[in-house]
Amino acid sequence: MNPALFTQVDQYFNQLFSLEDEVLIETRTSIVEHGMPEHSVSPNQGQLLFFLAKLCNAKLVIEIGSLAGYSTIWLGRALPEGGKLISIEIDPHYAEVARRNIAKADLSEKVEIITGDALAVLSQIEQVASTPVDLLFMDADKPNYTNYFAWGLRMARTGSLIIADNVIREGKIIDPNNTEEKVIGVRQYCEMLASDTQVTSVILPTVGEKEYDGMALAMVK
Ligand code: DHB
Ligand code: MG
Repeated sequence: MNPALFTQVDQYFNQLFSLEDEVLIETRTSIVEHGMPEHSVSPNQGQLLFFLAKLCNAKLVIEIGSLAGYSTIWLGRALPEGGKLISIEIDPHYAEVARRNIAKADLSEKVEIITGDALAVLSQIEQVASTPVDLLFMDADKPNYTNYFAWGLRMARTGSLIIADNVIREGKIIDPNNTEEKVIGVRQYCEMLASDTQVTSVILPTVGEKEYDGMALAMVK
């Protein structure tokens, strides 16, 4: 493995495809400025989220874990007129930073950042949502991935996408002796996906500036 090469190739494609505009660059800068964890998706992964949201014609998107709103902006930009993205963030400071970045991206009409515990917020959304959830992106609180998935399935339509970030964790997923709760969480999630006949799933391993990790993509049958 050569992490420096992966990062350089990621940067090469970022530049080749002009993936980031000012707002996305400023959003990344805000993460560093506010001492937040550098756990946002990479630009290429952001483009993948945008691509997938377009592909499934997403009008209602739910994101778990806003951080500074970087992936939120990518997903928000994929929405059609009248589309809606609700992003849930447990940390009030992160949520404030995210709201500012969403405003800079001129997405405040379509995108709402809700501060709170995701399971509690999701059950509120379940009470009021009048249309299916087209895309659920889980990117925080790995131990609860299976619970978020169960919620996503209840809210889905045929063709909805349920996407989970960070399921490989530099290969730790296959180490049976690893006791980190995040690793156990994503392993349980993948094992559950593998046996769930209501979805078609694919694991997408990724290398790049975020090193070796992967996303689990599930499409509701
Ligand atoms: C972690 C979380 C993320 O969402 C990510 O993309 C990378 C790492 C973490 O909590 O370790
Ligand atoms: Mg992540």
